[in-house]
Amino acid sequence: MDYESLISDKAKAIKPSGIRKFFDLANQIEGVISLGVGEPDFTTPWTIRESAIYSIEKGRTFYTANKGLLELRQEICRYYDERFHVKYDPEKECIVTVGGSEGIDIAVRALLNPGEEMIIMDPGYVAYEPSIILSGGTPVRVHLEEKDEFKLTPEKLKEAISDKTKLLLINYPSNPTGGFMSREDYAKIVPIIKESGIIVISDEIYGELSYEQEFCSLASFDEIKDQVITISGFSKAFAMTGWRLGYVLANPILTKAMVKIHQYVIMSAPTAPQYGAIDGLRSCRDEVEEMREAYLSRRNYLVKELNDMGLTTFKPQGAFYVFPSIQSTGLTSEEFCNKLLEDQKVACVPGNAFGESGEGFVRISYAYSLEELKIAMEKMRIFLDNLKKNAK
Ligand SMILES: Cc1ncc(COP(=O)(O)O)c(C=O)c1O
Repeated sequence: MDYESLISDKAKAIKPSGIRKFFDLANQIEGVISLGVGEPDFTTPWTIRESAIYSIEKGRTFYTANKGLLELRQEICRYYDERFHVKYDPEKECIVTVGGSEGIDIAVRALLNPGEEMIIMDPGYVAYEPSIILSGGTPVRVHLEEKDEFKLTPEKLKEAISDKTKLLLINYPSNPTGGFMSREDYAKIVPIIKESGIIVISDEIYGELSYEQEFCSLASFDEIKDQVITISGFSKAFAMTGWRLGYVLANPILTKAMVKIHQYVIMSAPTAPQYGAIDGLRSCRDEVEEMREAYLSRRNYLVKELNDMGLTTFKPQGAFYVFPSIQSTGLTSEEFCNKLLEDQKVACVPGNAFGESGEGFVRISYAYSLEELKIAMEKMRIFLDNLKKNAK
């Protein structure tokens, strides 16, 4: 049977992730040092693991409420209020999801109709566009620039909005650039959001990993709070990628629509992780802070090293990625990454895997130990020296 012909048009329209493609290649080579994956190298704090194990010992192995354990929703809402000064009602405005990933998907599917447009950032996280395509919507890409430190400027936002725009997705601190929007930066786009009446999905999964500047949650602007769907989760700040736990915060009407999709597709997020997360939010502040400080010193190390090598790198204010320009080498992003892999067995992700505006850049993740980063940077230096020698 021709199984290929059975695949739906929408599934066919989704392109395989450029990150995956590159890592399939890297995995075939032995002894590769990878700076490619956006996953904390830390183990989940013990308090969280212990609480989850205890919940299993106690036999709490059943579905929870569709929206998640009320106790967890209360903790999430308390946490968002305390940390980021946004108030949500745990009963009506919060859904515990299977990672931020599910949150993004149910938000898009609950709102986007075929033919409607959704604005996303380029370069941006790879999972947004597939959700739009599966909803039959049209992605509209805003091309961000290094000169603006990959921030969304009011000019660029205005230009992207049309009468078909329904949704805007922003993600600061950003994957892949480490770009950051301060309260002052947001204040410039908030009036445009208000006036246009569009709904904004704000992916704040890296919010806790902010460095010199204070993280600003978009929903903290009261005038647009009801237009914002806030997405976050435990994967990054709490080093819980494998637990698959995230959440969505939004006004009651939007929450109700998202719960409908969530309850049929997921039923409820996994139970033991929910018990773990309650204690994570209650008592893991110190661990989260320790991890943040480790990322910060790695960032400082990398930014200095890369600039010293002649790869211009702006200092990202959040997340755990740097996004150096490799334009001075005369290579494309893919050529650079392929050659670096072949010559020195170091893997990073070509910037164009995140959209065409990522061309000329590579993404380096610093969710790796300082020791690994040091070895990788020595190899990168040798690679660049060899490139220069060969060019002579
Ligand atoms: C920007 C961004 N959003 C969302 C996610 C999804 O995270 P999770 O589903 O593990 O919560 C990721 C993961 O890499 C990410 O980088």
